[in-house]
Amino acid sequence: MKRCGQSRLPLVDMTRTIALVGIDGSGKTTQAHRLADALAAEGLRASYRRNAGGRRWFGRLAARLGKGDDAEDLLGRRAMLFVESVLRWLAILRTLLRRAFTGEITVMDRYAVCQYASLRARAARPAAERRARLAYRLFPRPDVTFYLAVDPQVAHDRIEARGYDHESTDYLSAAAVAYRSLPEYAGFVVIDADATPDKVAAEIRARLPIPAPVTPARSRVRTMILAGGPLLAGATALGYQLAESL
Ligand SMILES: Nc1ncnc2c1ncn2[C@@H]1O[C@H](COP(=O)(O)OP(=O)(O)OP(=O)(O)O)[C@@H](O)[C@H]1O
Ligand SMILES: [Mg+2]
Repeated sequence: MKRCGQSRLPLVDMTRTIALVGIDGSGKTTQAHRLADALAAEGLRASYRRNAGGRRWFGRLAARLGKGDDAEDLLGRRAMLFVESVLRWLAILRTLLRRAFTGEITVMDRYAVCQYASLRARAARPAAERRARLAYRLFPRPDVTFYLAVDPQVAHDRIEARGYDHESTDYLSAAAVAYRSLPEYAGFVVIDADATPDKVAAEIRARLPIPAPVTPARSRVRTMILAGGPLLAGATALGYQLAESL
């Protein structure tokens, strides 16, 4: 990962994949886009990537075929969980392959843990999660995982206001419980996602282990120090030579 026009910094090298996870309506898509844009504006090569499981697409298909308005109305709960696990696996693979190719910072909208939470929230059998974990083990942990913690009622109201899908508050509450029950939860950076989009974005950026960009003023000071040292040494050596030759 490169910072444009600057030397490589060890901290930057550490943070290559950033995942935003959380229940539907917590603001993952909003914040992942904002973070990728903010990092790009700081001169870092960063991209937004979505690791979708296809649930919304199948929901739309169900509606078009007149079979309800939910993916599970079309495929059934267990089959949809299986399809979602496969599609998300493929999406994550594509994201990581792209990242390996481009070397950019990847801000991911959902990751493997979302699948484990989906399986738990929908009361899948433990064997289904074990199988999913086996398949997803291929993927490295993101360098940072932000968990957007939101009140399920707030998330529900946001989804309704968004207007293109629906989720019951009961499901959203079960999903929040599922995320918190994951063994990975202890490693999440928990963000208060009930706050305004600006506040959420600021908290995410503040807690990201990528140093703030070098501002022009700081950059000038650094240039002066870097250039000033050799200049001073050169001038001293020249002055010494001159004094000796007199
Ligand atoms: N902090 C916030 N305060 C108020 N509204 C928000 C906030 N963050 C996002 N929204 C709005 O709430 C809706 C849901 O946000 P978003 O689509 O980003 O959530 P999501 O976590 O990606 O949901 P999903 O899992 O369903 O894709 C959007 O209409 C978005 O504009
Ligand atoms: Mg989204």
